[in-house]
Amino acid sequence: MSLPETIKIIVFDAYGTLFNVRSIEDGLQSHFGDRAERISSIWRQKQLEYTWLRTLMNKYEPFSEVTKEALEFACKHENITLSSEIRNDLLNRYFELSVFEEVPDLLAELSQKYLLAILSNANLLMLKRAVAYNRLDSYFEAVLSADSVGLFKPRPEVYEIATRHFGMVKGEIAFVSSNTWDVAGAAAYGLYAIRLKRGEKPMDTMGFESSLEIDHLSLLI
Ligand code: 2OP
Repeated sequence: MSLPETIKIIVFDAYGTLFNVRSIEDGLQSHFGDRAERISSIWRQKQLEYTWLRTLMNKYEPFSEVTKEALEFACKHENITLSSEIRNDLLNRYFELSVFEEVPDLLAELSQKYLLAILSNANLLMLKRAVAYNRLDSYFEAVLSADSVGLFKPRPEVYEIATRHFGMVKGEIAFVSSNTWDVAGAAAYGLYAIRLKRGEKPMDTMGFESSLEIDHLSLLI
């Protein structure tokens, strides 16, 4: 499947798209046993909600802080006392999430054809640690963070970081995400939005459609 000839750069969302947030589950299980899966779901959902709430309230805090707050909520919700040791252990593991297994080889191939970048709500410290941990540094021309504008996706100012960084027009940039709200945000901003389908979640029904839907990254080659 080839992308339109205008596309020069492929920008990836980080969590859920390149990095598997479920790879933290071992850590959660060792601390919380059979409640791990539930805590993981609440943690991720609350983390997203807090980014949106903070953006609406004009009360930005870096994603590492939001991630900590969301973990605290998940434990409170499940009536678990979160010690500072467990909290630090889990947050450290979050900084070293594994990539989905197909990602390194496909980035190697795609980087022969396109400039590649990451654009994430996570702050640079988190992103750089995850990229280095998975030895992906050499594939990315840029690792861009919402932190530089103090707002979170899906605000248009965040997608604009990519067009500004590369000095490109919107139609020259493809943005790949498995998060439906992020695909909608990129499409609403005007990027060539590619939805990577991981799991069964349907696309949001707000009228901001992806330009392309794929169920495996290899379809970009
Ligand atoms: C991101 O990496 C949170 O998945 C979202 O920007």
